[in-house]
Amino acid sequence: MYGPVIQGSCFRLRPPRPEEAAVMIAWFEDLEVTARLLRRWPPSLDEEQEWLKKTAADPNSVFWVIEHEGRPIGVTAIEGIDWVNGRGKTGTLIGDKSFWGKGIASEVMRLRADFAFRELPLRKLQSGYLEGNEASRRAQAAAGYREVGRFHAQFFREGRWLDEILTELLREDWEKKQADSAS
Ligand SMILES: CC(C)(COP(=O)(O)OP(=O)(O)OC[C@H]1O[C@@H](n2cnc3c(N)ncnc32)[C@H](O)[C@@H]1OP(=O)(O)O)[C@@H](O)C(=O)NCCC(=O)NCCS
Repeated sequence: MYGPVIQGSCFRLRPPRPEEAAVMIAWFEDLEVTARLLRRWPPSLDEEQEWLKKTAADPNSVFWVIEHEGRPIGVTAIEGIDWVNGRGKTGTLIGDKSFWGKGIASEVMRLRADFAFRELPLRKLQSGYLEGNEASRRAQAAAGYREVGRFHAQFFREGRWLDEILTELLREDWEKKQADSAS
């Protein structure tokens, strides 16, 4: 499924458009963008278009483009949703590096969690990041994700083995945060 429009402060989350596949594959061509991503290899245009079609039809994922002034600058999603056990895996990619460090991912994660717990019957969101991805670590922590484990030396990047840190955001922690910010 594609996600509905969600307005952020300087961006919005919205469904992708088929012609945006070309912009998206360019993000995966940049080693700096993929340095701490699980997926490294740039897809072909056909592959990306096919993937966008498959994602639209997938009842177990919610996928958004992050749009700034009409242009896609990244993507975010809740994927692999297990409706029986009420959990899904989240991920975010800001492919346009000129938008890094402006607080966008932190806000995206907050809005996505609001959607997951207000509009979907989910109990928790699971995520993670690779060792050294300080921006992802901080953005997830700001959205309420907690570290719950670690796979040691899980991925080989830039000449060394990196740990994968596993995180989760529980509905009750999100509810507590809502209550705290309301009081
Ligand atoms: C990781 C990523 C999503 C972060 O997005 P972003 O919009 O730049 O993040 P934010 O601006 O919201 O920053 C989040 C926090 O990290 C800090 N930060 C940002 N860039 C940083 C950097 N290069 N080094 C250290 N800290 C950084 C910010 O100051 C902020 O900290 P704060 O909460 O204490 O203020 C983005 O860099 C990205 O898409 N990278 C490539 C793909 C990727 O790694 N995705 C995540 C996979 S887990």
